Amino acid sequence: MNRRKFIKNASLTGVGLAVGNAIISCDESDSKKNIQENNEAIADLQGLPLVIATWHVKEATAKAMEVLQADGNSLDAVEQGCRVEEANEKGQSVGKGGLPDRDGNVTLDACIMDKHGNCGAVVYLQNITHAVSVARKVMEDTPHVMLAGEGAKQFAISSGFKPEDLLTDASKEAWEKWKVEAKYKPIINIENHDTIGMLAIDKNGDISGACTTSGLAYKMGGRVGDSPIIGSGLFVDNEIGAAVATGLGEEVVKTVGSFLVVELMRQGKSPQEACEEAISRIVNKPNSNYKDFQVGYIAVNKKGETGSYSIHQWFSMTKFQNGVNEQIQSDFFNKA
Ligand code: GLY
Repeated sequence: MNRRKFIKNASLTGVGLAVGNAIISCDESDSKKNIQENNEAIADLQGLPLVIATWHVKEATAKAMEVLQADGNSLDAVEQGCRVEEANEKGQSVGKGGLPDRDGNVTLDACIMDKHGNCGAVVYLQNITHAVSVARKVMEDTPHVMLAGEGAKQFAISSGFKPEDLLTDASKEAWEKWKVEAKYKPIINIENHDTIGMLAIDKNGDISGACTTSGLAYKMGGRVGDSPIIGSGLFVDNEIGAAVATGLGEEVVKTVGSFLVVELMRQGKSPQEACEEAISRIVNKPNSNYKDFQVGYIAVNKKGETGSYSIHQWFSMTKFQNGVNEQIQSDFFNKA
């Protein structure tokens, strides 16, 4: 029996037996046990664990898979995977070496979400490389889900993170060049932007996700994008699947994109179909200027099926499953 039929039958059985508390509670506990067994069966069948990430980040997915193969959980995997890119100074859209805002400040946004639906986020975080790990600390060590700016930084330092200068020589040089014209409207590099988002399913079939970014290059001071906003940049529902976004955050926020992808999967769409529908909500808006920006989604469902789709060409997903760590070019909308 597939998962969808199983849940439907379980819920019908629950309705049919709603005549006595003892019977209902027995039915609920059986349902929970059956759901657990069903999840385990799915995991066995579908070649789990698996990890997917936005863009070409094989070292990051390799790190996450190393965690998963050592029986680590999906939360540890996505955190460790994202940290690889945050520490990579050559990547100019994440962590150390990220391109600054128009005033020369590198500010980071990140979030993380676990199998229980718990989440943590940091926005406008400065001087701390591993924003994703600070987001996890917010989730695990505070009563809040999001910390911003100086408060986030002070929390990170008090949690043991070392403050450092995140503006590398290469990013400073790029910023100096940008300042010559300093166009008010940020230019999107639709071929190479941006956020690293990662989703993993561990051997138990449990899903977690994370995403981390330095945001739009040369953004206005104080600007925050989609990446730390749960439901926009990232959403995980361990019963259904997960999604993460990359590209121009403003457009993702306006459509609550990652939540939308997961809800579309809940309604029966495959991860691929759900990503395509979420992109169509952006490009089919009246007066959409989608030709000027990129948005991409990746998604995974509980069965381990994956999908990716973007507005423009050159978006890719890295997928590590069954011993193969590969970059997969995404299909895209704008074929004109
Ligand atoms: N997707 C990253 C950002 O817009 O900040």
